Parts: sequence; structure tokens; C-alpha cells
Amino acid sequence: MRILVTGGAGFIGSHLVEKLLAAGFSVDNIDNFVDYYDPQIKRDNIAECLTSANFRLLEGDIRDRSFLADVFDSHEYEMVIHLAAMAGVRPSLEQPLLYSEVNIGGTQNLLEECRKSKIKKFIFASSSSVYGNNPNLPFREDDPVDYPISPYAATKKAAELICHTYHHLFDISMICLRFFTVYGPRQRPDLAIHKFTRLISEGQSVKLYGDGSTARDYTYIDDVISGIMGAVKYVYKNKCYEVINLGESKTINLLDMVNIISEEMGKKVKKEFVPMQAGDVQITYASIDKARKMIGYHPDTDFREGIRKFLGWYYENNKMRYMEDQ
Ligand SMILES: NC(=O)c1ccc[n+]([C@@H]2O[C@H](COP(=O)([O-])OP(=O)(O)OC[C@H]3O[C@@H](n4cnc5c(N)ncnc54)[C@H](O)[C@@H]3O)[C@@H](O)[C@H]2O)c1
Repeated sequence: MRILVTGGAGFIGSHLVEKLLAAGFSVDNIDNFVDYYDPQIKRDNIAECLTSANFRLLEGDIRDRSFLADVFDSHEYEMVIHLAAMAGVRPSLEQPLLYSEVNIGGTQNLLEECRKSKIKKFIFASSSSVYGNNPNLPFREDDPVDYPISPYAATKKAAELICHTYHHLFDISMICLRFFTVYGPRQRPDLAIHKFTRLISEGQSVKLYGDGSTARDYTYIDDVISGIMGAVKYVYKNKCYEVINLGESKTINLLDMVNIISEEMGKKVKKEFVPMQAGDVQITYASIDKARKMIGYHPDTDFREGIRKFLGWYYENNKMRYMEDQ
């Protein structure tokens, strides 16, 4: 079975592609290597996959409709797993139009190709950010999500709505997975755990937005990948439109997060408290009852253990710099 993954050179995507290949699937990957962060990191992410005969890299942009038409006309897919996006809350405040073009327009371009090619299985990478400042804890999939507080969140919610429309009109089975702050090896360098690790290792101060009490449901990459694989199995067998949270269902506040990183690194952290940023939510916290029941999702990575694994990868990846620091 051949699956099209978009954004497969990114953090989550590259882990997913490896897992799919290991499970015996053939995988095509659309990615445009946008320079939101260093594209060389993404090339390194998929270097190993490129040695597999069952993997093809289709370099291009999901906003480019003629590129997509060529891809779908010349290949046959049973399923699309759509992860490509402008990710990141804060930069979306600077470039809201770009976020809409890629995250909404790009998603609809893919759905159009699925409609034309009669592809009936689609998984979409949504986000916990759609919950905004939801007062109901933990966040359940049936909580109202009508008040996103960043352009990024609004694009993810809009894309979920468009997914539903294509499900309703064209009988495409869909699962929208709401990821909750994913971390682990290859984590995007702009995300807090990776950024803080770099700053602490360089002896620089770490900016904490707010008083340190904001909290996130940090989800280890292997857990998220097992959840996506569960969704692949479910959507393959069932006609459905489902929204499913993939979190760890535990929260860690910002102060604890940075202290755990510094303890595990054995290095002191210089903290600088600065005001909260627009677009940031106070807390994310996933109810994962639905994921457990529907797709057999059982995340089991303790945060400290996940940080150790992340640091193991970070040191290996930055060996030279780390040695100089010691
Ligand atoms: N990492 C998280 O904590 C998190 C949380 C919630 C949701 N998500 C969602 O999961 C998905 C993957 O996130 P990630 O952290 O791996 O991000 P990432 O930036 O590492 O991966 C996204 C990939 O999409 C590609 N891409 C971007 N624009 C494109 C375009 N126009 N055409 C083709 N490819 C394009 C990028 O080059 C990149 O390789 C995204 O949809 C993101 O919004 C991630």
C-alpha cells in the first residue's frame, strides 16, 4: 500500500515516514524544505529514508496546484497523511497570510486532489492550539473550539472544518489528530525544549514568558507516532470523520520544564522572566479517552525520561559544540 505523506522531512513527519517504511508501507513524501528553520536539518532527517527503495521524495509546495495535479495524476495512493504546514504559534502573528495560504489553502488543494483521484482516506495534523483558552480541563474533542487566539490556531481549525466538508460531500474518511506539544529527537529548533537546551548549553539566559505557571501537555514523539499509526489502521478500516487528541494527558508547567532540563543537563539555568506573548495559551491538557478507546493509544513516556532521550539525541547531534562546552 502506498501512502502519501506531506511534510515528511520535518520533525514529526520524518519519524512517521521511518515507522511507515518499517511497517512495510511504500511512502511518497511531499516537502518544500521551507526555511522556517534550517532546511539542511530536514534533509538530514530523511537521509536514511532516501536509501529505501520504498521511499520517494517529491520536492514541491502544497500551494502549487499544478505540481500537486502532476503528483496525483502520475501516482496512486490509498491514503494521504497531511502534516505539511507552517507550524508555530508566535511566527503566525507576523505572517498570518502565509499561514492561511499554506495551512488552509494547501490543505484544500490536497483534498481537491483526493476528490479527483477518489482517494478515500485522509489524516490531518491538527493542533491543541485550536482549543484556545478553553476553561474545561482536560480538553475534550467535543469542547467548543470557536475562539482560537492565534492565526496558526485559526488555520488549523479552518482546515478541520474543510476536512469535514470533504468527508460529508465526497465520502472521504478523515481523522484530524490534535497534537499536543510534541518533543523528542529532531524536535524543531524553535520549540521551547530544544531552544532552552541550546541556550542552557551555551550558558545564555532563558526567557520565560509569564510567571512560569503556563503549562503544556508535552507529548513524546514515539507516543505521537504510535497514535498516528493507530489512526492509519482505524481510518483504513472505517468510514469516519473523527477528531482525536494525541497528548500525554499530563501537564508540566514552564518552570518545572526548564528546571528538569537543567537538572538533567547538570547545568545551571539563568532565568529571565518576561511578559506573556500574544497568542500563547495558559494551559494545554488533553483528554485521551477517545484516543485510547478508538485507536488503542497508550502513551507511556514519563517527561523526565523523554527529556533524557531528547538530550541523548541533542548531544550526539551537537557533539563538537558540546565537547567544547565541557
Ligand atoms: N510539533 C508540535 O508540537 C506540533 C503540535 C501540534 C501540531 N503540529 C502539526 O504537526 C505537523 C508537523 O509539525 P512539525 O513540528 O513536524 O513541523 P515541521 O516544520 O518540522 O514539519 C513541517 C514540514 O512541512 C514542510 N512544509 C511547510 N510548508 C510546506 C509547503 N507549503 N509545501 C510543502 N511542504 C511544506 C516543511 O518543510 C516541514 O518539513 C504540522 O502540521 C504542525 O502544525 C505540530
